[in-house]
Amino acid sequence: MTAQASLLERAEKAIPGAALGVFTLPEKQRVVIESGQGSTVVDADGKSYVDYLLSSGPLLLGHAHPEIVAAVQKQAALGSSFYALNRPAIELAETIVDAVPCAEALRYQSTGSEATFAALRLARAATGRKLVLKFEGGFHGSHDVAQMTSARMMGRNSDETVPESAGLAGVLADEVLIVPFNDLEAVRDAVAGRGAEIAAIMVEPLQRVLRPVPGFLEGLRALATKNGIVLIFDEVVTGFRLAWGGAQELYGVTPDLACYAKAIGGGYPLSAIAGRRDLLGLADNTRPASETYSYLGGTLTGNPISAAAGLACLNVLKRPGTYERLRALGARLREGLEEAGRNAGVPVQALGEGPVLSPLIAENRSLRTARDLATVDKKRMVRWAHEMIDRGFLLTPGGKMYVSLVHSDQDIERTIAASREAFAAVR
Ligand SMILES: Cc1ncc(COP(=O)(O)O)c(C=O)c1O
Repeated sequence: MTAQASLLERAEKAIPGAALGVFTLPEKQRVVIESGQGSTVVDADGKSYVDYLLSSGPLLLGHAHPEIVAAVQKQAALGSSFYALNRPAIELAETIVDAVPCAEALRYQSTGSEATFAALRLARAATGRKLVLKFEGGFHGSHDVAQMTSARMMGRNSDETVPESAGLAGVLADEVLIVPFNDLEAVRDAVAGRGAEIAAIMVEPLQRVLRPVPGFLEGLRALATKNGIVLIFDEVVTGFRLAWGGAQELYGVTPDLACYAKAIGGGYPLSAIAGRRDLLGLADNTRPASETYSYLGGTLTGNPISAAAGLACLNVLKRPGTYERLRALGARLREGLEEAGRNAGVPVQALGEGPVLSPLIAENRSLRTARDLATVDKKRMVRWAHEMIDRGFLLTPGGKMYVSLVHSDQDIERTIAASREAFAAVR
């Protein structure tokens, strides 16, 4: 038995599903990662992969970036957690507030799910309203509201508010309105009917790999402003990735609140809600007691090691040329994958934005909603991913690929070359 097979056997006994989260691979491809360096990870049997998982996104600088390692080592020697203000948390907050158009201030949490959960709480507290409007197939994490008609059940009727998970609180179906992404008319109708009850519109500005159609985000902004609704951008994926100021900078629409995680922790657990000072101030427990006070907290919130890692990461991202490079790598990979598909006779379109992409196999060339996404040939996409994993490229079968600043041109060209064989294999 190999070292990896033995670890997998132990994992099966101790961890149901032998998985962390929802990422799983077929039996013969399952891996236990032993180490990561730059764009490469190595499994417990010594096999190397070019990594397009990047830990589901946080590693915009790849694995074990020397500046992040140095910052973490320095902070670890100074203390790992204080449950009190600390220098890295303050400096990182200043950096984010400076970078993000909507950010007058921020509050920390530890995960993306906690950030979206907290943003919704602030919106309800500020408006005194209960309803949340979100988009079919939009993913905002693991909490109960986020699990309504989220990513997995793409393709159901958008007027159904369906739980993605068992065990959610019962009242939620009545408190979440679901509308199709990129359908401003549907949002208008929902707001016309129940606008005075809606606390928040929560949206991924780039929903998974679907770009917003021109005018969609602007329309949400206008409807939110007119109806006293808090507009929340979930920038957990897009923050500091699509541009220094995130999707709101790239698309030119400023929300009231925005949620950050992944990149801002440089690979360590950290998240934040940034935005209007009056909204974030509702969590200020030094204010006199009031009905709008919103509890936001957590033992490890604003953790100094995570903040030091995040600060080191943002300091690198801030350098000239970062976003040009990320966009160029994403564009070359997108173009190469589409061409490889075409040459193999497979209808591939690599949707996404900048360094976030997914090579979808679909005849429909105008994919705009989650329901459109449900029509792609997912089975073949998954088979293609398995072919790629066999060839030493790690990615989520049927899901997104993330490119980092340290992927080399050679990594990308090798990936494209392998994808030719992989598409030919699933023709
Ligand atoms: C857009 C979006 N929001 C929220 C989350 C939840 O973040 P976390 O997994 O850190 O809780 C994710 C996770 O992938 C995400 O992609």
